Amino acid sequence: MQTIIGADVQAAASILQQGQLVAIPTETVYGLAANALDEKAVVQIFEAKNRPRFNPLIIHVGSIAAIAQYAILSNLAQTLANALMPGAFTLLLPKLPIVPDLVTAGSPKVAVRMPNHALTLQLLQQLPFPLAAPSANVFGYVSPTTAQHVYDGLSGRISYILDGGACTVGVESTIVEVIHDAVVVHRVGGVSIEAIEAVIGTKVQLPAATHRPLTPGQLKSHYATTTPLIRGNVSALLDAFADKKVAIIGLNTYYDGLPKAQQYLLSANGSLAEAAQHLFKVMRLLDAKDYDVIIAEIFTDEGLGKAINDRLERAQVLHK
Ligand code: TXA
Ligand code: MG
Repeated sequence: MQTIIGADVQAAASILQQGQLVAIPTETVYGLAANALDEKAVVQIFEAKNRPRFNPLIIHVGSIAAIAQYAILSNLAQTLANALMPGAFTLLLPKLPIVPDLVTAGSPKVAVRMPNHALTLQLLQQLPFPLAAPSANVFGYVSPTTAQHVYDGLSGRISYILDGGACTVGVESTIVEVIHDAVVVHRVGGVSIEAIEAVIGTKVQLPAATHRPLTPGQLKSHYATTTPLIRGNVSALLDAFADKKVAIIGLNTYYDGLPKAQQYLLSANGSLAEAAQHLFKVMRLLDAKDYDVIIAEIFTDEGLGKAINDRLERAQVLHK
């Protein structure tokens, strides 16, 4: 199959109408989309990504009003949707029967998001169905933030990549669920915890630190580079890997003891949001070079720093 990169929304719409896959841009990362109401279309997503069927998919809608066609919104969920959508924010909601079990992996809940990207909103608003879309990477690898990243991983497996430029947020959406009166965060992401708490006026419940499944077969990490990646005190790690060819991922300060050319700073002015925007691109770039080890700083645990730390933490699991 030949894979074309283009910016033709009509072409993307007609491929999706035929039950085929299209990679779509969002402000977080690129998604690999199919008609969420068509199981035969959705099954191709799992095949193209080598994604296990037990891992459910987010459905993407073109308006807040459309959510009620697929899920049940409590008052608090509706408040969150009104305040944070469109955006890097996903709500886990009780699903309506129209959503196929394949999309939710058999769960009675469906994850719903309205992305904030002009091209994709235009696409969603002209389709008579929502789009199921995981990140458009081969399962387990770093999520794509450009059309070229999608091409690098999935060329030959999909016919069209809708090119909407580089993603402006750069990390996946924050996933939350309303349980009774509490807002429980399942994944930290592009909308900060602080922003959610400002909407609800109380604290959210964060995922436990030991959230990862402990079954050995499931220890395969996410967001992982092929080159081993290790987080921690950079100076100490530089000493520990003194005999290796290392690169550093940091915020905006160079370290002593390594040429600057091997130090990749994500935001000159120290913005965690800008750092998040560049993180996956830099991880892919470093993975393509011949480093033995990638050393990552521990970022400030606030704002988008939480999502950066979470992704880097998961990226290193494979190599422990
Ligand atoms: O920013 C994003 O969320 C991107 C863009 C493309 O929208 N999508 C994304 O999808 O990151 P994915 O599939 O790579 O990650 C979605 C996460 C998975 O960890 C999945 O297990 C969880 O959401 N999820 C989806 N549906 C769920 C459900 N019904 N119950 C629990 N978790 C769910
Ligand atoms: Mg993913």
